[in-house]
Amino acid sequence: MTTTQEQTSEITTLLMEECGVGRRFASASLDNFNPTNDAAQEVLNACTQFVNEWGLIYKNGSNLLMIGRPGTGKTHLAVAIMRGLMENYETDVYMTTAQRVIRAMRDSWRQNSERTEYDVIGFYCEKELLVIDEIGMQHGTDSERLLVSEIINTRYERMLPCILISNFTRDELDGFLGYRAMDRVMESVSVLPFAWGSYRTSTHG
Ligand SMILES: Nc1ncnc2c1ncn2[C@@H]1O[C@H](COP(=O)(O)OP(=O)(O)OP(=O)(O)O)[C@@H](O)[C@H]1O
Ligand SMILES: [Mg+2]
Repeated sequence: MTTTQEQTSEITTLLMEECGVGRRFASASLDNFNPTNDAAQEVLNACTQFVNEWGLIYKNGSNLLMIGRPGTGKTHLAVAIMRGLMENYETDVYMTTAQRVIRAMRDSWRQNSERTEYDVIGFYCEKELLVIDEIGMQHGTDSERLLVSEIINTRYERMLPCILISNFTRDELDGFLGYRAMDRVMESVSVLPFAWGSYRTSTHG
């Protein structure tokens, strides 16, 4: 499908206003990701394939795990996938961070809170695609970390795809999310390793 400039900027606005994406990333696309090495090209191809094969991925409830060093374009490519899905299929997508999930849950426990814990879980578990960024960044208590796992487990039961993003290695993620949630994620997952230097601090031609 060809997308007009108007549609592109409409999606940029939607990404910011309704899909949890920060302004810094709202213009990210597969087209403006510059693969600086062969491994980055492979990761870009996998992200393009994720968009192209969305029908099958959604049917199977498959996941994507992006792991690697800071500044390598993980958040960029996750937003690029969200954009691709919105452009091609009008998919209901949402991006959050593990910290924001924990904060939303904590807020729901306050007296007079308008949202219950059940509402919060419902919100994250109704999206067709949920991206959870920065898993492992926060210093939550064990029980708070389990809130993130609970979202993952509920989505697993509903066979709804997730993109999980972290600077952690797989083993560290096991420790963070718990074996049970990770085992479920790994049942149907593509792992994309971002194993190159930071784009933020490099000179890229
Ligand atoms: N290959 C690339 N081509 C174009 N822009 C890129 C590329 N890689 C990263 N960027 C840009 O560099 C900045 C850093 O990338 P991004 O925030 O996606 O990295 P990250 O892997 O999510 O890092 P962190 O782990 O610190 O969150 C962003 O502005 C992003 O748009
Ligand atoms: Mg990031």
